[in-house]
Amino acid sequence: MDRSSEFDRMKHVAFLEMMMEWMPSPYEAQEINRLTLAYFTISGLAILDALDPVYKDRIINWVLSLQAHPRDRAELENGQLYGFHGSRSSQFHRHDAKQQDSVPNGSHLASTYCALAILRIIDYDLSSIDSESILISMRHLQQPDGSFTPIHLGAEMDLRFVYCAAAICYMLNDWTGMDKEKAKDYILSCQSYDGGFGLVPGLESHGGGTFCAVAALRLMGFIEADALSKSTVATTINVPLLLEWCMQRQGVDGGFQGRANKASDTCYAFWVGGVLKILGAYHFLDKDALRRFLLSCESQYSGFKKFPEDVMPDLYHSYYGLAALSLLEEPGLIPLCVELGIPTKDAI
Ligand code: FPP
Ligand code: ZN
Repeated sequence: MDRSSEFDRMKHVAFLEMMMEWMPSPYEAQEINRLTLAYFTISGLAILDALDPVYKDRIINWVLSLQAHPRDRAELENGQLYGFHGSRSSQFHRHDAKQQDSVPNGSHLASTYCALAILRIIDYDLSSIDSESILISMRHLQQPDGSFTPIHLGAEMDLRFVYCAAAICYMLNDWTGMDKEKAKDYILSCQSYDGGFGLVPGLESHGGGTFCAVAALRLMGFIEADALSKSTVATTINVPLLLEWCMQRQGVDGGFQGRANKASDTCYAFWVGGVLKILGAYHFLDKDALRRFLLSCESQYSGFKKFPEDVMPDLYHSYYGLAALSLLEEPGLIPLCVELGIPTKDAI
């Protein structure tokens, strides 16, 4: 591989360490998604092999403090998710004469996925958390068509939350949280005529939706490792068409776009590259060109930008830029468990 241009690992360590301690004011609007921002920061530092153990106890205590617990067993059947809140700001106490001690339950499937991913990254023993409340309550969020809504209050229902549900069950090593067959049927119904997956049936194929579909099928055990060489996968999804769709997302600039006729964007080097990795087809892409594109998206201030011509980096693209470079086996970066979107040395 051509590594004539250098990747400055320490620059990104400095960027994420700053995010760990002091997040710039434009992120205020994302306060409700603090766990997701923490996942990008912590997982990014772990990919860089630079997560300082001094943070470990603080991280564990903070993440665990965001879990919603039912007051009794009956509450587990009230249709609400008892997972993780996205931040402290959704855990305010209700000043209600009748229910003095009640905290409105704003826990969310995406926050729950991020919480468990963080705990797994720092080697916290997940068998010691109250996983039963998560698993029993998340079943209420699965819809008759197999899709998931992320919160009991009602929201979109699409592949993103099927993926979160599959990743949660996988990490907790317990599939009672979902009806796998129904989820599989929903995923299959999202494959479009061109081979990619839309977030809901009939929607335009998209790199993010395609990652969620393929990674969830793999976590659920419906796609075997190195699927290309196995015949079973042909009974679930149209792999040749999917491969063609993924390959067509790499542009002449070396980067990947999320859907047809859009500009190449840092994050799709992970979302679409990750699908190729899961399918055992990563060797088909032009790795040198992708690495050059990713380095052109590094910000002069550290971190990664969405597009080469942008000036400011953002945390989301910084994380997926690092994740994509890890898929490219950049020296100094920890390999990824691509299906879970976290660094690990264990294969699924
Ligand atoms: C389109 O935005 C983006 C979406 C419709 C969401 C895509 C889904 C993911 C990235 C996966 C999320 C994963 C989890 C685990 C929740 P856009 O129109 O701004 O982007 P585009 O122009 O690049 O298509
Ligand atoms: Zn992007």
